[in-house]
Amino acid sequence: MSVEAVFDEAARGYDRARRMLVPGLDDFYGAVLENIPFGREKPIRVLDLGSGTGLLSAMIAERFPLSRVTLVDISVEMLRVARRRFAEKFSPGLNRLEVRVMDFARKPLPGDSAGYDLVVSALAIHHLTHHGKREQFEKIHNALANGGYFMNADQALGKSLEEEQEYQEDWLRRVREAGVTDQDIEAELVRMKADKNATLEEQTLWLEEAGFDGVDSYYQDRRFVVYGGRKGEKKEVEHG
Ligand SMILES: C[S@@+](CC[C@H](N)C(=O)[O-])C[C@H]1O[C@@H](n2cnc3c(N)ncnc32)[C@H](O)[C@@H]1O
Repeated sequence: MSVEAVFDEAARGYDRARRMLVPGLDDFYGAVLENIPFGREKPIRVLDLGSGTGLLSAMIAERFPLSRVTLVDISVEMLRVARRRFAEKFSPGLNRLEVRVMDFARKPLPGDSAGYDLVVSALAIHHLTHHGKREQFEKIHNALANGGYFMNADQALGKSLEEEQEYQEDWLRRVREAGVTDQDIEAELVRMKADKNATLEEQTLWLEEAGFDGVDSYYQDRRFVVYGGRKGEKKEVEHG
């Protein structure tokens, strides 16, 4: 199999696996898209932290055809797939794309003094310690332009043991219904042991402590939440 075909397969495989392992993925990522408060023709500068294969960023780039997107990920392989996705999906896709292979927790975030209009992240920040999450929120605040927004689609811990158990049971039921095999569920459960989930309330509080205004949550389907905030002055809402 050619290298090209291997990455085609990897991209398809990753997206399919995401859809099976994240119940309600379209609504989850859709909540990010629906709540980006910029007009579609605005040439927004976007930073995606832990972009993986660019699943969320490609949706944003499609909705905002004049946007420019910087993808950050620690995995070269995921970013390779993302570059391919942008090259195939957009014309000329790579003109709108910058990729950075880096650990966003350890390095300064990319960007210049103008700052980003939008920083997004999906299912990545829960890998950091709680201290790391708070530091990350401060770095994101610094990387934004005044009036810029941060939106995080991520995981939350239940507020009580009962709630946490309910999140887990609901997830197990839905991934089984989606046809995920016992073997794949076992592998995912092992991987999930490394997750460092915080409650939605903790995460939104930390955003406020990092200096964000208008912090709000836009979506919750048990474990899966979308929340965000604004840096500085409120901008006129330009849906369109
Ligand atoms: C579960 S995947 C989600 C990918 C993508 N955001 C999506 O929604 O499909 C998490 C991604 O975050 C990346 N990641 C996790 N911690 C990171 C870090 N500290 N620095 C850079 N990338 C990181 C991983 O390499 C992986 O690609």
